[in-house]
Amino acid sequence: MAVDLLLGLQWGDEGKGKIVDVLTQDYDIIARFQGGPNAGHTLEFDGIKHVLHTIPSGIFHENAVNVVGNGVVIDPVIFQKELDALKKFNLDIKSKLFISRKAHLILPTHRLLDAASEASKGKAKIGSTLKGIGPTYMDKTGRNGMRIGDLELSDWKEKYRSLANKHEAMISFYDVDIQYDLAELEADFFKAVDELKQLTFIDSEEYLYQAQKAGKKILAEGAQGSLLDIDFGTYPFVTSSNTTAAGACTGLGVAPNQIGDVKGIFKAYTTRVGSGPFPTELFDEDGETMGRVGNEFGATTGRPRRCGWLDLVALKYAVRVNGVTELMMMKGDVLSGFKKLKVCTAYNYKGEQIEHFPFNIEAENVTPVYSEMDGWKEDLTKMTSADQLPKALNEYIDFLEKELEVPIKIVSVGPDRTQTILR
Ligand code: IMP
Repeated sequence: MAVDLLLGLQWGDEGKGKIVDVLTQDYDIIARFQGGPNAGHTLEFDGIKHVLHTIPSGIFHENAVNVVGNGVVIDPVIFQKELDALKKFNLDIKSKLFISRKAHLILPTHRLLDAASEASKGKAKIGSTLKGIGPTYMDKTGRNGMRIGDLELSDWKEKYRSLANKHEAMISFYDVDIQYDLAELEADFFKAVDELKQLTFIDSEEYLYQAQKAGKKILAEGAQGSLLDIDFGTYPFVTSSNTTAAGACTGLGVAPNQIGDVKGIFKAYTTRVGSGPFPTELFDEDGETMGRVGNEFGATTGRPRRCGWLDLVALKYAVRVNGVTELMMMKGDVLSGFKKLKVCTAYNYKGEQIEHFPFNIEAENVTPVYSEMDGWKEDLTKMTSADQLPKALNEYIDFLEKELEVPIKIVSVGPDRTQTILR
């Protein structure tokens, strides 16, 4: 039985939360494989708008079990807040949400280290969400980290103390002015850990193996997007995990030959939060309109997202690195009313026209080459089937499918679960 993947193909915020929520009815298990509370997955249904950070987006569906995999990093304090926000839905969290013992813990000092590291970088800062993601993954690969399973051992507080002490020494090394009251942060942390320990911890790779054997349908949910991947993204302006397809294997313990469909999500245009190169970024009225109509503000930090035209060079790269088998186009409704649309089909790179994604896409090296297409003016948000879509939008979709060589199976025309058109 195959494990299907759902991945963001741009710089995150493609709308994965909504699509997992829509697809969950077809799956028994939704498993998150990387990232942490830097993510913000927004779901809208029955007039409710809800943002999840670490908890998988299948939590609202009665039939689905949700697994937080070993590749995820967990901040108990934020996790607790997420659980508190879910209380009003009366979900049976203990039987619906399982956490891998091998997932790493974000300590309060990891957050402080993130802040110190960013402050020390000045203008070169990454634009981190400051949730402690980078320092936690550094401790993971440095073999110093603390894992969920450690919390079941009697000496976990000693382990915690020695790591936190080390972090404090590192914070002072940065020589930046970071104000904090560790005793207060630790009080919150310990309280949240006590709550976390009430949840169900599992050996998730074994659980998922047995589930596969039993014929359960599993969807692996990614966070962030391919262009933020630690290896294939726009390094160093990336996150600290593998957001691409292979990350689902290492982040869940699923063998590569068990991967089935790879569902790739992209917006009909492009957005990015935080720093880093963005060749098709717009600084004019068009970009402002995308941001306003698309409500482009970070779900985790509230920062305005940078907006620009669709970048097919980057999207093709993501489709190939991930082995995408079907595509989902989000927010086509936001482009309604643009007379002309541009799509970047090549880069002028150091005086040469190229169609692949090069080592460096900084503005001094890359200028986009655009194809121009007609826009559509119809409001898409009330449309319910593919035959209602305007001609110009169908031409836009056909063009993308031809370029990307992968079918676009879903066109999303609004944030609600119901505003989803199947093709
Ligand atoms: P970090 O993962 O918080 O360290 O942030 C590193 C970079 O990834 C920054 O540019 C963030 O804005 C970006 N980033 C992290 N998580 C997300 C996300 O869920 N959506 C979009 N951008 C993200």
